[in-house]
Amino acid sequence: MHIDILTLFPEMFPGYLNESILKRAQAAGLLHVSLHNLRDYASGKHRVTDEPPYGGGGGMVLKPGPIFAAVESLLLRLRSGQASNLQSQNEKRLEIGDWRLPLILLTPQGRPFTQQVAQELTQHDRLLLLCGRYEGVDERVRQHLVTDEISIGDFVLTGGELAAMVLVDAVARLLPGVLGAEDAAEEDSHATGLLEGPHYTRPETFRNWSVPEVLRSGHAANIARWRREQALRRTWQRRPNLLLTAELSEADRWFLGKLAQEASER
Ligand code: ADE
Repeated sequence: MHIDILTLFPEMFPGYLNESILKRAQAAGLLHVSLHNLRDYASGKHRVTDEPPYGGGGGMVLKPGPIFAAVESLLLRLRSGQASNLQSQNEKRLEIGDWRLPLILLTPQGRPFTQQVAQELTQHDRLLLLCGRYEGVDERVRQHLVTDEISIGDFVLTGGELAAMVLVDAVARLLPGVLGAEDAAEEDSHATGLLEGPHYTRPETFRNWSVPEVLRSGHAANIARWRREQALRRTWQRRPNLLLTAELSEADRWFLGKLAQEASER
């Protein structure tokens, strides 16, 4: 997957993207990230990218010109084969001429980012992310350029850069080959519709606290059932609304009934 990030602060990204799993994913050619500085597309001697809002009020608003120029320049380069990784031509979303790519604005007003949205985004082979700043972006960018808007939570950051990194991280680890088999994403919290249960590692006893017996038993079926019940218990305690949409077996429902029974007796 190729991800283009349009931002006023490209220097914020390398520290996070060039470590650990994302670093390996890029080295293996599974993930490509290109950073584009919006300031490079601003005109005039001072390369102004933001202005005060019409109608007054505080803050600054990102001007449409540099954003349109950055996106159009990228699309032109893609079309003429200058931008790297051209297999993404198959995936066309943003329509400028005959080009279509998803252009996602990171904003607190966007649709909530979830594991399901991350999964959905893996279907594209190229994504453009636009990081908002200050009070936001000129509405014409939203109306005539952006194809999707995503929020990473009901709080306001100083800009979309951290949100873009969150999105890149969550999407990249779902790409085939990025995680090894041993830390595969299938059992993650949220991937199964439930929160994950507890994990333990060595030592077997730490400060008198021991690892649950079942995990040391070597009995695969018992371990699987225990983990499932722990996940159900944790979800029931912390995020009961998730149980309304999770896929539950007869045994799961029986166990949840038992939890409810226990709670009513307390
Ligand atoms: N920019 C500022 N706050 C944000 C949020 N919560 N999600 C995405 N982008 C943002």
